[in-house]
Amino acid sequence: MSAAPAALPRHIGIIMDGNGRWARQRGLQRPDGHRAGIETIRPVMEAADRAGVHHLSLYAFSTENWSRPAAEVAALMRLFEETLAREVDELHANGVRIRVIGRRQELSPSLTRLIDAAERRTAGNRTGMLCVAINYGGRAEIVDAVRRLASAGHDLAHVDEAALAGALYTAGMPDPDLIIRTAGERRTSNFLLWQAAYAELHVTPTLWPDFGAHDLEVALQDFAARQRRFGGVDG
Ligand code: FPP
Repeated sequence: MSAAPAALPRHIGIIMDGNGRWARQRGLQRPDGHRAGIETIRPVMEAADRAGVHHLSLYAFSTENWSRPAAEVAALMRLFEETLAREVDELHANGVRIRVIGRRQELSPSLTRLIDAAERRTAGNRTGMLCVAINYGGRAEIVDAVRRLASAGHDLAHVDEAALAGALYTAGMPDPDLIIRTAGERRTSNFLLWQAAYAELHVTPTLWPDFGAHDLEVALQDFAARQRRFGGVDG
């Protein structure tokens, strides 16, 4: 395949890292950092929308995050519930479809109910999509997809990429073209493992609560300057 024009990503995934460091720098508790991190989401969504990017995926809680102190996990779960309950009306009014990806069976019944209701209510929206990864792991997702295919009676000896992609939590969504990671670490940490096969990675030292519209614009400029070859050669 020859070089594709890389003007604008269709879908951006964000690994929102650095909330804990942000809080520590201010003598605050880690949950204060997560609360500040929530405030970052809206301006970034708005900036993405202005730029013409209508699919956003946010890594909110990984399958590995359960090993954090119980009080921090509880605070995060409370924040997810509060945020979903508070934001769903406006997201719906703006035509945004909400999708939550991850192993839902390990979440509390109250959070699960909120997620189900938000997804059902916004299912018909087409202006944009906000996908939130909660209790998400890319490897677990692939395992779940294989199990789903097996229990649907699929002939696993003849499974192909399209069938597997269609059984992932993200079925029907475009693959992310750009993954942004805040707070400096240069790894993808099990986020959208299958889907990000050809994604460009943009890492910024900025901590997530400090990330803003300008940082998103910088990431988009960086993306536009990349030569995307998808395994081929220069055109
Ligand atoms: C990483 O910072 C951040 C998280 C594990 C949680 C991110 C979650 C939010 C911002 C809330 C999102 C909520 C919704 C509903 C979308 P860290 O704690 O690993 O920071 P550190 O690496 O500096 O310690």
